[in-house]
Amino acid sequence: MIKIAPSILSADFAKLGQEVAEAEKSGADWIHVDVMDGHFVPNITLGAPIVSAIAPHTTLPLDVHLMIENPERYIPDFAKAGAAFITVHAEACTHLHRVVHMIKELGVKAGVALNPGTPASAISEVLEDLDLVLVMTVNPGFGGQAFIPRTVHKIRQIRQRLNELSLFNVHIEVDGGITSETAPLVTEAGADVLVAGSAVYAQPDRAAAISAIRRSVGG
Ligand code: DX5
Ligand code: ZN
Repeated sequence: MIKIAPSILSADFAKLGQEVAEAEKSGADWIHVDVMDGHFVPNITLGAPIVSAIAPHTTLPLDVHLMIENPERYIPDFAKAGAAFITVHAEACTHLHRVVHMIKELGVKAGVALNPGTPASAISEVLEDLDLVLVMTVNPGFGGQAFIPRTVHKIRQIRQRLNELSLFNVHIEVDGGITSETAPLVTEAGADVLVAGSAVYAQPDRAAAISAIRRSVGG
């Protein structure tokens, strides 16, 4: 089952509560929350208080993507705010194993993200501890960028490794430039969670946008 996680980065920030409720009504599976600190990526978005504020407006899992340096400083706040998944960047963690375990000890599902320039091997030592691997299909920082096709082989490589290790429940999520044109490429390679920012929230009819992506991957 392919899951679709609209990213609120492309939503109207003046009415986030309504925007997440609408995504849920429109058939979304998770809500993707992009947290940017202006250091790890060249953009600033939102923090844990916003996650707390939107949490009562949806029953869907909040999938928090931390594009921040020193994520360990803020993980407890995001856990308390209601995150179901917390994903950190491998590139932002000197002590990746410690950070992953910190997330899990707080009772939250743990993910690690890889930038397009980072090889799959960056997570090989923590793969068994993860609930989710996030393969970035653009360089993080902004919505509406073009999908980088070169990232597809990394999805395939990680899915193959997960299968070899019999880790069949680990999600592979993709993020950046996902549309009904690019979605089939990534699901064929083994991705099962599709983040879509502009392809959902920049569309007037969000339900139609979500079903177009779902139909493109035969789901
Ligand atoms: C990119 C963010 C994405 C972004 C995707 O840095 O991590 O989640 O919202 O936006 P689209 O789907 O428009 O590429
Ligand atoms: Zn994201």
